[in-house]
Amino acid sequence: MNDSALQRRFHRNADEARFYNRLDNPWLRERELAFARSLAALAPGSPTVLESGCGEGSNLYFLNRVLPGASLHGIDFSPAKVEFARRLLPFASFQAADALRLPYPDASFDLVFCRDLLHHVDFDRPGVLREMWRVAKPGAWLAIFEARGSCPLNLLFQLLYPAERGLKNSSAPSLEALGRELGEPEISFVSPTLVLPAAGFILGWPQSAVLRGLCNIAYAGAWALDRTLQKISPVSRWPYMLLTLQKAS
Ligand SMILES: C[S@@+](CC[C@H](N)C(=O)[O-])C[C@H]1O[C@@H](n2cnc3c(N)ncnc32)[C@H](O)[C@@H]1O
Repeated sequence: MNDSALQRRFHRNADEARFYNRLDNPWLRERELAFARSLAALAPGSPTVLESGCGEGSNLYFLNRVLPGASLHGIDFSPAKVEFARRLLPFASFQAADALRLPYPDASFDLVFCRDLLHHVDFDRPGVLREMWRVAKPGAWLAIFEARGSCPLNLLFQLLYPAERGLKNSSAPSLEALGRELGEPEISFVSPTLVLPAAGFILGWPQSAVLRGLCNIAYAGAWALDRTLQKISPVSRWPYMLLTLQKAS
């Protein structure tokens, strides 16, 4: 199976549980809102925004919360995910398309972003950025969220899931080098640990009140660990990165 076929197979279904976990779980929701605010700061007002590789659309859901005037668009190559996003987020528009061939004319958007996409298109990361750049208007921003592949939880993730192995090439220097092919990138480190999302991955956010109570205890432990690690790890070692890049006007 080639890389692209492996990815399509891995992402063929909509991950509804993950979508609702981000929306409903208070331990994760704040983190999601913080990411949306960092995007909104790049394009205030009523921007036209595209997410490449939008999955079920949760990032656009939170962007709509913090930037209600924005015109929101998402593409993903999984028809099931796009169908789910269309149904749940009627205020945004979605298309099933490849990140390497975006179905939009040049210079269409004020902000183009992706999150956790690059390592799934590891065979052509520059191609993903070139397409995002092409559809960005002059003066627009590109924003790329990507996890650091060398952090222990991600090493485990790569071991467990062949479709996540592109993470081995996700580092701050490699991301910066990619951005430098287009302009003058800036890297920031936006999440001190991956402990809470990992807890979310394992525990989810159950419907039953009893299970939810038990999960709350585990999430509180994960939150405390997250805070402790935040204090002792230097920001430049944090495992979640945001690369931003502005197109010349
Ligand atoms: C880890 S998920 C992230 C989804 C979303 N960005 C989020 O943060 O919830 C990666 C997404 O990229 C999509 N994807 C992977 N390769 C793609 C490609 N070549 N073109 C479009 N979408 C792709 C997958 O279908 C999946 O929805």
